[in-house]
Amino acid sequence: MSKISAPKGTRDILPPETAAWQHAEKVFADVCSRYGYQEIRIPTFEQTELFQRGVGDTTDVVQKEMYTFDDKGGRSMTLRPEGTAGVVRSYLENGMASLPSPVRLFYNITAFRYEKMQKGRYREFHQFGCEVFGSEGPIVDAELVSLLDLYFRELGLKETSLRINSIGCPVCRAEYNQKLKDYLAPHLDALCETCQSRYDRNPLRIIDCKETSCKPIVREAPALLDNLCPECQTHFDGFCKHLEELEINYTIDKGIVRGLDYYTRTVFEFVSEHVGTQGTICGGGRYDGLVEQVGGQPTPGIGFALGVERLLMELEQQQAAMPGPARPSIYIAALGDAGDQARKWTWKLRSLGIRAETDLMGRSLKAQMKYAGKQSFRFSTVIGDDEITAGKIRLKDMNEHSESEVSFEQAEALLADHQKQQG
Ligand code: HAM
Repeated sequence: MSKISAPKGTRDILPPETAAWQHAEKVFADVCSRYGYQEIRIPTFEQTELFQRGVGDTTDVVQKEMYTFDDKGGRSMTLRPEGTAGVVRSYLENGMASLPSPVRLFYNITAFRYEKMQKGRYREFHQFGCEVFGSEGPIVDAELVSLLDLYFRELGLKETSLRINSIGCPVCRAEYNQKLKDYLAPHLDALCETCQSRYDRNPLRIIDCKETSCKPIVREAPALLDNLCPECQTHFDGFCKHLEELEINYTIDKGIVRGLDYYTRTVFEFVSEHVGTQGTICGGGRYDGLVEQVGGQPTPGIGFALGVERLLMELEQQQAAMPGPARPSIYIAALGDAGDQARKWTWKLRSLGIRAETDLMGRSLKAQMKYAGKQSFRFSTVIGDDEITAGKIRLKDMNEHSESEVSFEQAEALLADHQKQQG
């Protein structure tokens, strides 16, 4: 029979790479908890309408990239292309709006977008994200960015730059949209077909278009940052000031409008030179109208999502020190009929928290020791009738090439101690 391969745009994450993923996940959860974020887990698929309303039906994500299907009951469902809409839905559905503000949530999810394959761009990918509800002022914006800054520092990630912008509120956006349309009107025929359809419905999306026909036109377009209302300008100035207080470097990039419709005011991205054409490791921003859009009371919100594949690619490029898989502690070889005893002691060691293995393959003693050497166990021992009668084993330190005779209890204490040091 022919072999079945993984679907295009997906990838298996195998050991030893999984150890780096576990480390990135652990440090993220740890940093989030220091900032008062608690983990939320949301469904992989949602009603399609949530993304149409939340992410916006003029975005590339909704128009071109969603994995949408009818379930057996004829309801339209979509594999989540991102986490924010689902978190907002859950926040409302589970009454979190009545919790004391701010409500801080973090997540670690897979997301699905039917995109063209490129380095750092997948159809199934992973995101670490944070969302915080209930705080309108720019302090929370800076705090969120500082969480990322700390996370990157703890992972040893350097050479990323923070780009920030403001895309205003519905008031200044409406005025700006008119200005943008006036500018675009003489170029309308030269825009791509998608942008022509966006001209009336959502002209801001044209700024984000990657088509070569649109790029030169967009380059000369007026910037939203130069057209903010006084309230949005004050908010943006406050954001910059708080970043400076926290000694976080940033660059103002008037071209960042983000690819999703829910953003208001603050938007930001962390970019790197290394992740192919997909230089954005992380993107986020404020979405003060989204909770209302999904059916709740007006509630300010802000968040980000970090592409985990891109983060790990970047760490590898920068040769950041990442832990490998935990080294197994002890291999217990069985001599003659002592297999039962070897297995029994192995189970006991595991219950004491020690990484221990014994033979499952019916191998000869020589083959067992060869296996132990290949798997880089730190210690090994052989259990036979003599060891059981004497209550003592010879514990071999495979690093030091030394041996010591110890009781089972002494070995247990020594191994537990060794493993504690290893973590
Ligand atoms: P986004 O910019 O669409 O924002 O995605 C965030 C990050 O996910 C990107 O910066 C990138 O690292 C990663 N990413 C996106 N698409 C792919 C892909 N096809 N393959 C690999 N990585 C990818 C959001 O998703 C928003 N929900 C972020 C947010 C949260 N804004 C506010 N709260």
